[in-house]
Amino acid sequence: MPDLLSIAQLGPGDVDTIFDATRVLKADRGAYSDLLRGKRLAMIFEKDSLRTRFTFDIGIQELGGSAVFMDHRDVRLGARESVKDMARNLERWVHGIVARTFKHRVLEELAANCEIPVINGLSDFLHPCQALADFYTLTEKWSSVKGRKLVYVGDGNNTCHSLVHVAALLGTHITVCTPEGYEPNARVVSEAMLVARESGADIQILNDAERGVRGADAVYTDVWASMGQEDETEERANIFHDYRVDEELMALAKPDALFMHCLPAHRGHEVTSGVIDGPQSIVYDIAENRLHVQKAVLALLMGKS
Ligand code: CP
Ligand code: NVA
Repeated sequence: MPDLLSIAQLGPGDVDTIFDATRVLKADRGAYSDLLRGKRLAMIFEKDSLRTRFTFDIGIQELGGSAVFMDHRDVRLGARESVKDMARNLERWVHGIVARTFKHRVLEELAANCEIPVINGLSDFLHPCQALADFYTLTEKWSSVKGRKLVYVGDGNNTCHSLVHVAALLGTHITVCTPEGYEPNARVVSEAMLVARESGADIQILNDAERGVRGADAVYTDVWASMGQEDETEERANIFHDYRVDEELMALAKPDALFMHCLPAHRGHEVTSGVIDGPQSIVYDIAENRLHVQKAVLALLMGKS
């Protein structure tokens, strides 16, 4: 596992390895505090972040290393100098890169041009660290995620793609409910269906949220307009209004179904306050686990670099 750009680079054994390491690191925040001593992490972000930025920065420090943050919100990567030249410089100074980019191919270009690990801190296409924290949290709640039903309601976006990837690997049934035209990427779904043949996961893509949510063990949603789509906010609010996760929709799921969201959330849009602030919501448990899961990812990738 030289980089973590996509969950599609991982096998089920890799996810088990990450989760085993996460368990150890979560049980003792001081464990392996020397593991990455002297290691430097470059964090290059083209978009805002609370969770990803804090958890990677705190995570590397807790493992004995340090991070250098490069705010690229005003100038996209590749504008001042080529992405390839950036990668070739950075690898001379640091031992790993976390990047949050608009274009997924910028991450791929970074990774292709350096020997150090490159970690996807969210792109327009994928959000793998988020999905790992989501599923790690589910393993804590249920012990086994195999055969459980996760229903994603909303936009077939980056978060959704990575959830589909992990579900397929771990044998979790996943139903994605989106408005027409906002379904997840067809290649992600067909590749996940191939992986699911091994794991037994059932993957369904629907346009009917009420039908999809019936019998769900967990219901997940994310913003309707992702970062970079702000000019579509109003248009999407009209298109997605039947895909709001509210108390009535949650009532169609199992009575003890969990509510999940990667955050940031827009209360009154994709989710009501009653649901996200209610007893079924595990959103802050997931946010907490971003730290522990990413420490595991840093330890496994940078322990060797
Ligand atoms: N969920 C998530 O990635 O949050 P941030 O955008 O705050 O990093
Ligand atoms: N889909 C959202 C996730 C934010 C963590 C976005 O890309 O903005």
